Amino acid sequence: MRKPIIAGNWKLNKTIDASIELVTLLKRELSDVDEVDIVVCPVFTSLSAINDVILESNIDMGAQNLYWEDSGAFTGEVSAPLIKDAGCKYVIIGHSERRQFFGETNQTVNKKIKAALASGLLPIVCVGEVLEERETGKTFDVVKTQVTQSLAGFTPDELSKFIIAYEPVWAIGTGKTATPQQAQEVHKFIRGIIAEIGNDEIAAALRIQYGGSVKPDNIKELMSQEDIDGALVGGASLKPDSFIALVKGAL
Ligand code: PGA
Repeated sequence: MRKPIIAGNWKLNKTIDASIELVTLLKRELSDVDEVDIVVCPVFTSLSAINDVILESNIDMGAQNLYWEDSGAFTGEVSAPLIKDAGCKYVIIGHSERRQFFGETNQTVNKKIKAALASGLLPIVCVGEVLEERETGKTFDVVKTQVTQSLAGFTPDELSKFIIAYEPVWAIGTGKTATPQQAQEVHKFIRGIIAEIGNDEIAAALRIQYGGSVKPDNIKELMSQEDIDGALVGGASLKPDSFIALVKGAL
């Protein structure tokens, strides 16, 4: 049985005070949920303050990005050991906005995953096709390339630490969700790739989140699909009521 995981990707939003306010509410309202892993991913500047709030709670924290070197002359970057030090358990890697606006490739994603694992962070690796690729029938090819290149060279033991987020880029922040069937067929396909590059056992245990306009009113249908094990949520994770409803919808 795979434990569902709902992660809020706050993107570039919220001051430290606003972050504390949100997570304090989540902590209070979700304290009795233990069947779902709950993760918040704030901006770097809020990590440490949020860590103080969630200590000894059922809420975990993730960073939205990292750099693959641990330290040195890399102005403006933040590394895996520092993210771990700030209290993170997870890190999002290869989000489509990073691929689109910051030049990330499957190769840099691969290096970042290595760095995350070396520091004991659990990577949430994002993949997904853009609209044109879906419309021209390239979804499976694109996702296969992203998964195989991003995950190249990892041992079965390392692969067992991954979470993959399938996020069709055309569904992110657009209000257009993939239908549960569209999402399910790609999730199943990804699980098949993991069986090939890892093994059946790892593939069966791997958690695959769906992301892209997930809302309280579509979470249940998405989660009812066999290979959908949670959600990576942007917009709907910024308000306490909708994030709480999403977590409860995954129960
Ligand atoms: P959205 O974002 O829920 O606002 O579509 C999802 C994501 O980018 O992870």
